[in-house]
Order: sequence, then C-alpha cells, then structure tokens
Amino acid sequence: MRDRFTSTLAQLGPLSVWRYANLLPVSRDNSVSIGEGGTGLPRSRRLARDLHLRELYFKNEGQNPTGSFKDRGMTVAVTRAMEIGSKSALCASTGNTSASMAAYAAKAGLRAEVLIPKGKIAKGKLLQAIVHGAKIVELKGNFDNALQKARAIVEKNNRIYLANSLNPYRIEGQKTIVFEIWEQLGHKVPDYLLVPVGNAGNISAIWKGFKELIRLRITNRAPRLIGVQAAGAAPIAKAYSQGVETVKFLENPETLASAIRIGAPARWKGALSAVRESKGAMLTVGDCEILHAQRLLADHEGIFAEPASATSLAGLIRVRKTGLIGANDRVVCIVTGHGLKDQKIIAS
Ligand code: F0G
Repeated sequence: MRDRFTSTLAQLGPLSVWRYANLLPVSRDNSVSIGEGGTGLPRSRRLARDLHLRELYFKNEGQNPTGSFKDRGMTVAVTRAMEIGSKSALCASTGNTSASMAAYAAKAGLRAEVLIPKGKIAKGKLLQAIVHGAKIVELKGNFDNALQKARAIVEKNNRIYLANSLNPYRIEGQKTIVFEIWEQLGHKVPDYLLVPVGNAGNISAIWKGFKELIRLRITNRAPRLIGVQAAGAAPIAKAYSQGVETVKFLENPETLASAIRIGAPARWKGALSAVRESKGAMLTVGDCEILHAQRLLADHEGIFAEPASATSLAGLIRVRKTGLIGANDRVVCIVTGHGLKDQKIIAS
C-alpha cells in the first residue's frame, strides 16, 4: 500500500492540496483552485539551538493564496458547492475563513456572504473579504454569536452553502497538511506536532490525516498532537486539564489573538479525541507569550506570523520548560497564517 501511494505521488508533480485528490471526496476535474497547499517546512536553526532541540520545523501556512491554512479546506468545500449546484456561500468568521471563502467564491462565481463580529477582526482580513467581493455583515457580539446566526440562516434556507469548519469538506482539504509534512520529512512523521486551536477544525483535520496514513499502512505511528489555546479563550484546554468529557463554553473569550478568540468551539469533540488518542496534550499560553513567540519567529526564523499562528511556538517554549518534549524529538509547529493581515498588533 505504501509503495503504491509513493509511486502514485511520484507522478503527481509539486506539493499541493490537489496532489492528494484520490484521498479527497470531490473530483480533481472540478477543482476550484488558486494554488493552495505546497507550503514550506523550513527547518529551524536558531530557535532549535536556543530550545535545545535537534529537529524543529515550521509548517508555514501563511504561504497559501489568501495567507492562511483555511485555503486548503476552502478549495475542497467550494469545489463541492459547485458540484451540488450552490449559488451562494455563507460563513461566520474571525477573519481568515471569510477572506478565504471570499476568494474561492470569487474564483467560482458564487455569491459570498460573511458574518463577522463587529470591530473584532483584523483589518487586513476584512480588506480581503471586501476586495474579493463578498457581502459583509457585521454583527454585535463575538464569533460564537456570528456562527450561531450562520447556522440559523442555513437551517431556514438549505440552498445556502455553509462554509464553516462544521462543513466536512473543509476538514478533508485541511487534512492534506499532514500528507505534505510526511513527504517533506522524507516519508517520516514527527514525534510532536503543535497546532493553534480556536474552533478546533484544524486539529480535528490533522488527526484525521494521520489516522488515514495509518489506515492506508503508509506509516504505523502518529505524532503526539499538542493543541494550544490562548489563555483567555481556552475552554477545550480547561476540559482537558480537568479530565472531563464535555467542554463548558465561555461567554466572553478574550485574547489579542483575534483569530482564536472563540468561546464555543464547534469541533471541540474532535480536539479532545485528537489529543487524547494521540497521547498529546492541550495547553494554554498567555497573550505576552504569544507576542513573544511572534517576535521570535520573525527575528530568528524570517517568518512573519499573525499572533494566533504563533501560539504553536509559544506552546513549544512552554513545554520545553516542563520536559514534555525531549531534546531528540522531531517537532513540527504549524504556523497558521500571515502576519501582514494584522498590522495593528505590531503598530501598537
Ligand atoms: N490560526 C488562525 C490564523 C486562524 O485563523 C484560526 C481560525 C486558527 C488558527 C484556529 O483554527 O479554528 O480550526 O481551530 N480561524 C477561524 C476563522 C475561526 O474564522 O478564520 P481552528
């Protein structure tokens, strides 16, 4: 099975989401694509040395067409929307999903409407949704209220295509990050993989990706997944540390990492299964740690990440102090989105 997989891959050209089309539930022939995936996995020298790690890599998802990992899922979700003849797509967002959906809807010729919490998303992301021609609806309250509203709208009108990460096609596209990492590491899996967590779609997708690699007998082991939430918006990490089965939602999540300012994560179950089944962990990091990690990524590694994206490194710095990750472990941090989207953070 593994040999068949690798010999097929050899014929498929450069890394991209659609390279793995035979593991996706839509046809490559219909793909609505603007060049998503194929992001770099640079090996760290300076931070690896400072953190006393032999092998550390950053998966730089800011290199996607709209500057975040959302494009992996959106290309598949919008392809599906076209396959079923949808005319309009809707999402609630803390910014990146709306930017991505607006771009893919533009490419496909779909109407796009985005619900965003007023005054709570980074200006660069709002600008992206505007230039790609989406209708912007700003709502009072936070992301969780906006997502509730989006769900209510599609419940009343099932002709509108919901593009949030509740949508399973988003998860399918996002899992391709795992296949890329496996290839980029020379057909190996990391020992630890750290990922920022907000609505918990991405960590669910990543775990699905590893389970598929195991099911296909391409590898026989998965990394331990470490999900990292911002301390003021960490309902999943709280449930994890208390060892309970359900997540108690937060009314007023607060963090300067606006992308993950989420109190009622839609895919909390997936996140808990991912960290428990992989024998990883869920952590929290404070806003100061996030900003510090953002700066380190920029001035030690040449990667400009938005604050939410730097939580994976902030989490790594924290666990290096506790000894959870050893010096000889192979570690990958997911960097989820580009820093240029959120310039106010740097200016202030
Ligand atoms: N990092 C960035 C830059 C994000 O934009 C998000 C989520 C996450 C991490 C967390 O990923 O939700 O799959 O756990 N942004 C969503 C949005 C919520 O609307 O753009 P997750």
